[in-house]
Order: sequence, then C-alpha cells, then structure tokens
Amino acid sequence: MTSDDELIKRKQEHLDLCASDAVAFRETTTGFEHYSFLHYALSEVNIDEIDLSFNFFGKVIGLPFYISCMTGGTDETVNINLKLARVAKELKIPLGLGSQRYALDSDRFNSHFDLIREASGDIPLIGNIGAAQVVEAGIIKKLSRLIKISHIHALTVHLNPAQELFQKGGETNFKGLLTAIANLKKELNVPIFVKEVGSGIDEKVADELLWTGVDMIDVAGAGGTSWSGVEILRNGGDNQHDFWDWGMPTTYCIRRVNSLRASYNFLLTASGGINSGMDIAKSLALGADLTASARKILRELHKNGEPGVVLRDGRL
Ligand SMILES: Cc1cc2nc3c(=O)[nH]c(=O)nc-3n(C[C@H](O)[C@H](O)[C@H](O)COP(=O)(O)O)c2cc1C
Repeated sequence: MTSDDELIKRKQEHLDLCASDAVAFRETTTGFEHYSFLHYALSEVNIDEIDLSFNFFGKVIGLPFYISCMTGGTDETVNINLKLARVAKELKIPLGLGSQRYALDSDRFNSHFDLIREASGDIPLIGNIGAAQVVEAGIIKKLSRLIKISHIHALTVHLNPAQELFQKGGETNFKGLLTAIANLKKELNVPIFVKEVGSGIDEKVADELLWTGVDMIDVAGAGGTSWSGVEILRNGGDNQHDFWDWGMPTTYCIRRVNSLRASYNFLLTASGGINSGMDIAKSLALGADLTASARKILRELHKNGEPGVVLRDGRL
C-alpha cells in the first residue's frame, strides 16, 4: 500500500520531470511524419462554414480535442487543474483529471472537486483511475461515490503496465482486470473510457475492451511522453535504458483500433505526442474521432500561462 505522502511526492516528481523534454521518447516516433495530405486545389469550401463542434456523449463540445488526464490531489495540483478548467471552459472542451486514487477513501478533496466544477462551467469532466485500483475488492462502491463527489461525466481507466513495472513501489498485480472493467461498465452509470499512458493500445487489446461495452478507447500511443522513461529517470537511470522507447506508435494504434469499426460502436481518441494542429488533422484523417494532449499543454501552461494554451483566436 502506498502512503498519501508517497503519492504526493511521486505526483510532484512527475510534474517536475514533465516540465521538460527530458521525458520524450528517444527513437520511437508517433509516425505522423510518414503521412501527408494530398492537396486539393479545386476547393469549394467556405472556411467560415466549417463546424468543428462534436457531440461528446450528449454534450456539444467546441473541438474534437480534450485535455488529457494529468493531476490532482494537492493544493498545488488543484491550482493547475483550475487553470486547465478555465482553459477548457473557454475552448468548450472536456478536461481529464489525473488519477483520483487519492480521493477513493477520503473526503478531504471534495472541495477541490467543487472548485474545479465551478471553474469549468458545464464542460465535461473526465475522471481517472488506474488498472491496479480497478482490480481491488469493493471498488464499485468507492467509484460510485467518487463519481458523485467529483462531478465527472465519464470515468477513464488507465492501463499502464510498463510504467508500473519501472516505478519504485509500482503496483504490478493486474489479475482480473478485464472482468473488473466489464463490471465497471455494468455497474456505473457514466460512460467508461480506457486509455494507455504512452505505450499504446492496438486492435487486440481494444477488441477485448470493446467486447465489455466500454464507450471510448484512447490509444495514448508512443512518440510523445515516455512513462517508462519518467520512472527510469526517477530510479536514477537514463534514456539509454532498453525500455525507454517501449510502445507502439500513435499512428499505428489509431489505424489498428479504427479497423474495429465494423464490429463495435465506440469513440476512438488519438493521443500520445499530439503536439500540433497538423497532428490533430492527421489523427482525424487516420480514423480518430477525437484527439487529446497532456505534456504539451502542461509545458505551455508553465511557459505562457492560460493565454498560451488558448491561442488568440480561441483555437488550439
Ligand atoms: C504530468 C503528467 C501527469 C500524468 N498523470 C496521469 C494520470 O494521473 N492518469 C493518466 O491516465 N494519465 C496520466 N498522464 C498521461 C497522459 O494522460 C498521457 O496519456 C501521456 O502523457 C501521453 O500523452 P502526451 O504525449 O500528450 O503527454 C500524465 C501525463 C503528464 C504529462
């Protein structure tokens, strides 16, 4: 069992490491560089009539994009979430909260969630919990309570075996995970999403997950932030480690998961190294419904504050 102090220390170290590019993949890329658009000169489009809004589980959002799950659980991190909440409100996009494990057994954080809800207006908030917590006994009751106190519209389960493997004190017992996810889908009355954290989800994993009825797969592929890398650095290693580049490129994951469309009805999010509007456009062209970014947003927030994340004309 990890103590609260250890969780807080770990979260802070993650934030500090992610403030730089030191945690980027070394050799594995997203693969976006292998794709380019065919130019079409005979355009008859009126660009002002292009509508980027998207129906996100019954709520209309401004762009096919959201801020991926990052942080929470301390006064400092609630401030980051409040800034992100204001950005999300302005852009009318969903906000993912970082792992809410810290609030599973405690009421201490209820006021944080109230503040984030207030700052974000009525944009969708996405909750987050780890695979290692989902397999624990009694989790359904705890998550039902968490959904209420944190005002979330959907819950994401993050799958992060590579990260846990390299994390000091990481939790590496995932026995019963698929059944546990199927139970969440059966028992909780919010959409259930499943994401990786940068090593990717392909069609084999997505097929198993979609069979349980989950509503959205966020591939979170390789080429952006290396989470085995983050933990390797925390352990005193460097980017020459064999597992630094572990994972499947984001573009590969999008294409493979997109191939399941004929069998299941689901939303597909492209994330993992989405760092520009062009990455977003290529993701959508490759088959994604939505896109999301994490570290790029955090870095921009550190560098240029909220206005840096929301560009002048209100577009990313
Ligand atoms: C500082 C930071 C903290 C993160 N914490 C979480 C978390 O608590 N839960 C989660 O599912 N993913 C977490 N992630 C992973 C991201 O949601 C994302 O899947 C991953 O970083 C790949 O996206 P990127 O290349 O845009 O950073 C975190 C990412 C960052 C940068």
